[in-house]
Amino acid sequence: MKVERAAVVGAGTMGAGIAQVLSAAGIEVLLKDVNQEFVDRGLANVKRMYDSRVKKGTLSQAEAEGLLAKVKGTTEYKEFADVDLVIEAALETIEVKKQIFSELDKICPPQAILASNTSALSISEIGACTKRPEKVLGLHFFNPAQFMKLVEVIPGVKTSKQTVDMALELCRQWQKVPVRVEECPGFLVNRLLFPYLNEAMYLLAEGQVTAEEVDRAAVEFGLPMGPFTLFDMTGIDVCAHVTEFLYKEYGPRFEPAPLLKLMIDKKFYGQKSGLGFFVHQKGAVPNKDAAKELNPELGKLLEEARKLKPNAKSIKKFDVYRLMMPMFNEAIYALQENVALAADIDVAMKFGCGLNRGLLSLAEEKGLAWCLAELESQQTSHAERFRPAWLLRKLVRAGLHDFKALTREEMALTR
Ligand SMILES: NC(=O)c1ccc[n+]([C@@H]2O[C@H](COP(=O)([O-])OP(=O)(O)OC[C@H]3O[C@@H](n4cnc5c(N)ncnc54)[C@H](O)[C@@H]3O)[C@@H](O)[C@H]2O)c1
Repeated sequence: MKVERAAVVGAGTMGAGIAQVLSAAGIEVLLKDVNQEFVDRGLANVKRMYDSRVKKGTLSQAEAEGLLAKVKGTTEYKEFADVDLVIEAALETIEVKKQIFSELDKICPPQAILASNTSALSISEIGACTKRPEKVLGLHFFNPAQFMKLVEVIPGVKTSKQTVDMALELCRQWQKVPVRVEECPGFLVNRLLFPYLNEAMYLLAEGQVTAEEVDRAAVEFGLPMGPFTLFDMTGIDVCAHVTEFLYKEYGPRFEPAPLLKLMIDKKFYGQKSGLGFFVHQKGAVPNKDAAKELNPELGKLLEEARKLKPNAKSIKKFDVYRLMMPMFNEAIYALQENVALAADIDVAMKFGCGLNRGLLSLAEEKGLAWCLAELESQQTSHAERFRPAWLLRKLVRAGLHDFKALTREEMALTR
């Protein structure tokens, strides 16, 4: 499929980045928002992205101007009558998305694909408010969309295979790395990342390690930054919202650490509020390498958190697997639910989180039996958060040691 004209609905952080990605691939883009001020702000951001490429020397001034000219702003849907594709990146509420998709369905050509960049809402529910659910899917870009390679391609219940295949091919044309993910809460990357982030808070409250030590261990393991730096950069309020949502959907495995609520009550949101796990200069550009001075009030909150979970104490000396095992275990849960293929899980964690080694290759290094024993031993101290996925038990019982040992046919059984 060739997309010549596309539209992006919502000219905010994600919409501007997506408009840049599409225009850089030679596509004419309409960038829509609710008023001219927001459209202009989005267009200015796209221009800034091109300017920075010129500065870096990856594009000439003339090339950048030519590509930027492909992006046109609008506040109306009437210009959408000849687009091949729409990517919606507006507000994250189901009412707004449903209203946008029913409008799009009326005005866009019948063959046009309608995609949502939603982080968590149901693609099936969005598709159901159109007369073309077979052409509706999720295209989940990561922030900043102009740099992050991963796109989760998420079909809803009614999305056709043809639409999914087209979307995978289009993402490749845009120099992205697409991974097919079946619809589930958190999709793939956030579903795997949040048990790790949540565990980091539980661990910190136990008092045997500092936030800096944990961050250092995560970086040494192969992540671009530690969990507490990531919390502060993402916004602890945003993380709390996602954690609550995943807890509601999946239950005890995702029970939020008490420290999270204590931080929210104090409005310690991270870089945006000036205080998170670390002290920040309010309004400064997020920087993972900024000097790390601990929030002086953190010690008091950790004491309070300990009182809320008095029996929570690790039986082991800290090592980074305490954090990695919940992520690994969730990957096996996702695998047993056929949410993604094993190879795609490693690709997604590499390009969506920057993990510089395959998450499932942990099993190759340590062995599946070791992973199961580690989860079981942590389960004795931390209960449901470490309950091993039954697929892991099944593979261990089958005498398998790693995922590479599974044949293509055996892998197909887990799809
Ligand atoms: N920011 C992230 O890190 C991130 C990452 C992945 C996915 N997402 C998802 O992408 C979407 C957009 O997020 P964002 O961070 O860019 O938000 P944002 O607040 O920066 O931008 C949203 C824009 O949508 C506009 N908008 C609202 N209703 C609209 C409508 N009816 N028609 C057209 N425009 C409308 C708003 O005016 C605003 O400019 C959300 O669904 C979000 O969950 C965000």
